[in-house]
Amino acid sequence: MLRRALPTISSSEITPESTYLTRMTRRGLLRAGAAALGAGALAACGADAPPPTASSDAQTAGPIRPTPDPRTPTASRQQDELGGALTPYASVTGYNNFYEFSTQKEAVATLARDFNPSPWTVTVGGLVSNPRTYDIDDLRKFDQEERIYRLRCVEAWSMVIPWLGFPLARLLREAGPTSQAKYVRFESLNDPKRFPGQRDRLYQWPYVEGLRLDEAMNDLTLLATGVYGRSLPPQSGAPLRLVVPWKYGFKSIKSIVRIDLVDAPPTSLWMAANGREYGFYANVNPAVPHPRWLQDSERRIGELARRKTLLFNGYEAQVASLYAGMDLARNY
Ligand code: MTE
Repeated sequence: MLRRALPTISSSEITPESTYLTRMTRRGLLRAGAAALGAGALAACGADAPPPTASSDAQTAGPIRPTPDPRTPTASRQQDELGGALTPYASVTGYNNFYEFSTQKEAVATLARDFNPSPWTVTVGGLVSNPRTYDIDDLRKFDQEERIYRLRCVEAWSMVIPWLGFPLARLLREAGPTSQAKYVRFESLNDPKRFPGQRDRLYQWPYVEGLRLDEAMNDLTLLATGVYGRSLPPQSGAPLRLVVPWKYGFKSIKSIVRIDLVDAPPTSLWMAANGREYGFYANVNPAVPHPRWLQDSERRIGELARRKTLLFNGYEAQVASLYAGMDLARNY
């Protein structure tokens, strides 16, 4: 993990995709969007489209305009601590799992283009001594830092992403968990008027995820407000998402509106949809295959060869102690 303290970004800095993607890119995304609108919904976290390769990144996601605009995507470093190159901004924001918009990864950015994440509030409550509803700008006042993390999807593709955000632990400390609080439950916005995918009742909306309290308090666990030096675009989970880099990507819930401290493990959207395939822990583990995807290797977006998947996605030193004595195959 790499980190750097950064200045706060205000909501006025959010720039629509159309101002920084090339025309060719937009045409490609529009075509993908139209195709997706005609396609039926798919059944689980795994609407498999072939991931973009280095060359398809260039063709469908397009180059980022060379411009002196200070909002041009930037990161302080070009690789993670293991030497993995950053995944291009166009892929990070053009190949997304966000079922509230679409099950088609390459359609999400287009469908999300007009989603306005402002105004926005996040309520922190449940078993806490200081429940509070925060305006998103209040949350941007927590010191923002850059963290370069690997994101490993259960579908066996991965990216390296420079997030901006702050440790969830800071917010939870402010809320003051009571002694009964053992887990944290996260909820995304539920608004079928703004999320076309929620009109499909295939899933039990809203999207819900959960962590054990000690996982939530771990310093790696980030509440992200930005990516590549700018505010999160809608498809990446604007205005606030979770990033838990040692777990499969579906734990990293987007567009959060509620965070509750609770006394029992929350049932996530994926556990409710298919408890056999999706467990509560979802730690990246090459030794425990998913019923539909082997997990011992992965494809880094933009690369052709597969690479070995690392236990806890390479963050073993920071998190293995959380699971001491647990059977990781049973607690999948
Ligand atoms: N959060 C919400 N609200 N809805 C979603 O569909 N998809 C999850 C996760 N968070 C999802 C979500 C999955 S399956 C993955 S792999 C990651 O977001 C993908 O994040 P990315 O699109 O920024 O790469």
